[in-house]
Amino acid sequence: MLGNFTYCNPTKLYFGNDALKGLKEELPKYGKNVLLVYGGGSIKKNGIYDDIVKILKDCGKEIFEDGGVMPNPTVEKLYEGVERAKKGNVDLILAVGGGSVCDYAKAVSVSVFCNEDPWDKYYLRMEDVDNKIIPVGCVLTMVGTGSEMNGGSVITNHEQKLKIGHVFGDNVMPKFAVLNPEYTFTLPEKQMVAGFFDIMSHILEQYFSGEDDNTSDYVMEGLLKSLIHSARIAVKNPKDYEARSNIMWTATWALNTFVAKGKTTDWEVHMIGQAIGAHTDATHGMTLAAVSIPYYKFIMPYGLQKFKRYAVNVWNVNPENKTDEETALEGLKEMEKFMREIGLVMNIKDLGVTENMLEGVADSTLIMEGGYKVLTHDDVVEILKASM
Ligand code: NZQ
Ligand code: ZN
Repeated sequence: MLGNFTYCNPTKLYFGNDALKGLKEELPKYGKNVLLVYGGGSIKKNGIYDDIVKILKDCGKEIFEDGGVMPNPTVEKLYEGVERAKKGNVDLILAVGGGSVCDYAKAVSVSVFCNEDPWDKYYLRMEDVDNKIIPVGCVLTMVGTGSEMNGGSVITNHEQKLKIGHVFGDNVMPKFAVLNPEYTFTLPEKQMVAGFFDIMSHILEQYFSGEDDNTSDYVMEGLLKSLIHSARIAVKNPKDYEARSNIMWTATWALNTFVAKGKTTDWEVHMIGQAIGAHTDATHGMTLAAVSIPYYKFIMPYGLQKFKRYAVNVWNVNPENKTDEETALEGLKEMEKFMREIGLVMNIKDLGVTENMLEGVADSTLIMEGGYKVLTHDDVVEILKASM
C-alpha cells in the first residue's frame, strides 16, 4: 500500500550537455561569497574547474576554495571545511564532483552554525538540524549516489571505524544540480562501473522491502532495465552519450525519495558495505557489489515471491516448469553474470578484508529493520564469510 504522504523535492535540475548554463541562472540568487568544494583534482585535469571559475568570476563572486575532498570524506576534513566556510562567511557552497564532494558540502552546510560537534549530533545521534543552513548547489561529475537530488550525506570516522549516512530533510537537499553526462566521460572505468552498481543497489534496497504491487515497484523495474541495458553499452563505449545520459538520469531517480514511496526500504547491503568501507576505505559501489549476491541469497527465502518477480520482470527468466525458488535463483544468477560482465569486484578479499577482520566489520554494521529479514550479528558474519 502506498499509504499517506506529502511529497516535495526542492532540487532544481539542469540536465544535458549545455546544463552548465543553469549555473549562470542560479548564481545571482545567492550572496557574493562562494565556497568552491571539489575533490582530488580530476576537475582541474578535465577543464571543468576552469569553466566553473570563469562563471563564478563573471557573476562577481568571491571564491573560497576547499579542494582535496577525498572519496569517503572524513570527519577531520569536515572540521576543516567548517573552518574554511566560517572564514569566508560563505553564502553558497558549490560542490563540483561526485557523491563524496556533494555529501561533504551538505555536511559542511549544516555544521557551520552547529554549536556542538556535528559528528556526534548528526551522525552518531542522528538529530535534525535546528540551526542555520548554508545553501548547497552541485555540479555532478560522477554518477551513482543520487546525492545531487537527495538529503543524504555520508561521513567516515576511521578512528571509530564507523561510516555513517544521515539523510537530512528537504531544506538540506541541493538547491540546484547541474547534470552534464559528458562530465562523466573522464571517469576511470573502475569508478564508472562502481557507480553503475551503486545505482542498482539503491533500487534493490527499496525494491526488496515491504508490500508489493505499488507504483514504486513498477517504476523500479523500469529503472533497472534501463540501467542494465545502458550499462552494457557504456562499458563497451564509455563515450556513448545516450547510454551515459540514461544512466545519469536513472541514478538521480533511484535515490531521490520518489521510489521509496510505499516501501519500508531495506538498506542492509549499504550498512554492510559502509562497515567494509570504514575498515578498508574501499570504493563505495564495490563494497556493495562484493556482498550483494551472498546477501540476497541469504534473504531470498524470506521474500521469495518478490525474488521470483525480480527474476521474471527484470532478468526475463522463464518461470515455466520451475519451482519459485529455482526461478528466483536463476534471477540472481543472471544478476551475478551481469555484474561480472561489467567488471565489478565480486568478493571482499579483493577489497582488503581478511578473515580476522570479519567480526570487527560485523560490529560496525548497523542493523536495519525494513527488509525481509532483520539480521543478527551472526547472520552478518555468515554473509561476510560467503562474500570472501
Ligand atoms: O577526487 P577527484 O580527483 O575528483 O576524483 C574522483 C574520486 O577519486 C573521481 N572522479 C569523480 N568525477 C570524475 C572523477 N575522475 C575523473 N573524471 C571525473 N569526471 O572519482 C572518484 C570517486 O568519487 P566519489 O565522489 O567518491 O564517488 P561517488 O560518487 O561514488 O561517492 C561516494 C560517496 O558517496 C556516499 C558513499 O558512501 C561515498 O562516501 N554515498 C552517498 C549517498 C547519498 N548522498 O545519498 C548514498 C550512497 O549510497 C553512498 O553511500
Ligand atoms: Zn550507495
